[in-house]
Amino acid sequence: MEKASMIYEGKGKKLYNTSHPDQVIAEFKDDLTAFNAEKKGNEAGKGALNCQISTEIFKLLEAEGIKTHFIKQLDEKNMLCKRVSIIPIEVVTRNIATGSLSKRLGIKEGSVLPFSLVEFYYKDDALGDPIINDEHAILLKCANSQEELEFLKETAREINEILRSFFDGKGLNLVDFKLEFGKDSEGNILLADEISPDSCRFWDKKTNEKLDKDRFRQDLGNVKMAYEEVLRRILN
Ligand code: TMP
Ligand code: ASP
Repeated sequence: MEKASMIYEGKGKKLYNTSHPDQVIAEFKDDLTAFNAEKKGNEAGKGALNCQISTEIFKLLEAEGIKTHFIKQLDEKNMLCKRVSIIPIEVVTRNIATGSLSKRLGIKEGSVLPFSLVEFYYKDDALGDPIINDEHAILLKCANSQEELEFLKETAREINEILRSFFDGKGLNLVDFKLEFGKDSEGNILLADEISPDSCRFWDKKTNEKLDKDRFRQDLGNVKMAYEEVLRRILN
């Protein structure tokens, strides 16, 4: 499948049309951004790592019955996907407190949450992706109904159970992660975007070493080595 015109360039990926009206190509970029792109960087090979990590995770989720936009990996950093229109909600699931949760609510960094917390953020760069509740999501027409929101939450929880147990077996704690969903031409809601160390937090179970984009956000160094380690563990 060949790339046709570019549809959109995001912070982490470029999306291209193809000759098939219902299929697009996602090209994973080496760029890294944080804090709503206030901080910018580039890590050669990061795009390829995220493409492969996302491929493995989408395959795992599909095998477990989750409907995703993934069709196949085309090459190092290109993925063929079903065309969807993205629901403008970032669905964040958290197992361990850190990041904006600790900052906003004062919950101690590293405390294990008594239950997995699912949150919605409004996907709008100009507004800095603010946290929203269900009523905001309906008001903003992000979703058509409460049922759709419940579906997003339920699916996020299901994905959390699958991934948490998978990564636990790889010696990693899945601390938190962000999902995006989209609707295909028939209105089916599919898991979309990517699942990678850009969109998840992984801590080594033994050492608590951070193996994700926090290494870039917090200037910890060895960003690429961390992503390579995540891929190595996924494949082992
Ligand atoms: P947060 O603690 O900064 O709110 O991040 C929660 C999770 O969501 C974390 O795994 C990183 C991911 N995330 C994104 O993928 N994109 C974003 O824009 C933000 C803010 C977080
Ligand atoms: N992805 C967001 C950005 O580029 C924020 C983040 O992941 O920290 O700014």
